[in-house]
Amino acid sequence: MTNIVLFGKPGAGKGTQAEFLKGKYNLTHLSTGDIFRFNIKNETELGKLAQTYINNGGLVPDEVTIKMLQSEVEANPDSAGFLFDGFPRTIAQAEALDAFLATKNEKITATVALEADDEILVARLLERGKTSGRADDQDEEKIRNRYQEYNEKTAPLIGFYKEQNKFYAVNGIGTIAEITERLSNVIDNL
Ligand code: AP5
Repeated sequence: MTNIVLFGKPGAGKGTQAEFLKGKYNLTHLSTGDIFRFNIKNETELGKLAQTYINNGGLVPDEVTIKMLQSEVEANPDSAGFLFDGFPRTIAQAEALDAFLATKNEKITATVALEADDEILVARLLERGKTSGRADDQDEEKIRNRYQEYNEKTAPLIGFYKEQNKFYAVNGIGTIAEITERLSNVIDNL
């Protein structure tokens, strides 16, 4: 199996690129943000639990997120591999994912990061917030909170995956097609 973590700050283009990569490499795309938003829209218990954290730009607690991710993997037993988008976001999540995959004799193949400056990304999200209806894109304070969460809790994953020689980074600025090509070059060489 090929299991890719698509990594990057909020607005880096993970979801956009996943739409192209999942078909190209026949991977099951699991976006924890999309799954939470689906649950919020449908007013499930999980959605009610996650809503306050998400709307304020904070992370949903690890135990909730890990359990949800694991059940999504279990729900796709015939998958040829996974494209993880927005997960893991903490060291605890990364360790839990490694341990969970190990129970299936599987592992993360690589983590591929989209790199871009915060200011460009904040502008992207403010622009998207005008039309997307995403509560966490609505004002700059919430967006800044997401970057603070990223810096404190998610950025340490770069070192975590570098230690395992599984971390690759590409320039996240350019046209969508250019960035897909950069990511594909990394994945093709794995
Ligand atoms: P999540 O949905 O993962 O949000 P995010 O990481 O903030 O990322 P975004 O979806 O905003 O951005 P993206 O990188 O996917 O970029 P996109 O392609 O959309 O998570 C939301 C929340 O859920 C979290 O804050 C947290 O509360 C919770 N959550 C999720 N996972 C969790 C976890 N593991 N643990 C705990 N909590 C969790 O693009 C962004 C914009 O830029 C779009 O408008 C797009 O059209 C545009 N764009 C894309 N590419 C380009 C380009 N090349 N040039 C110009 N514009 C571009």
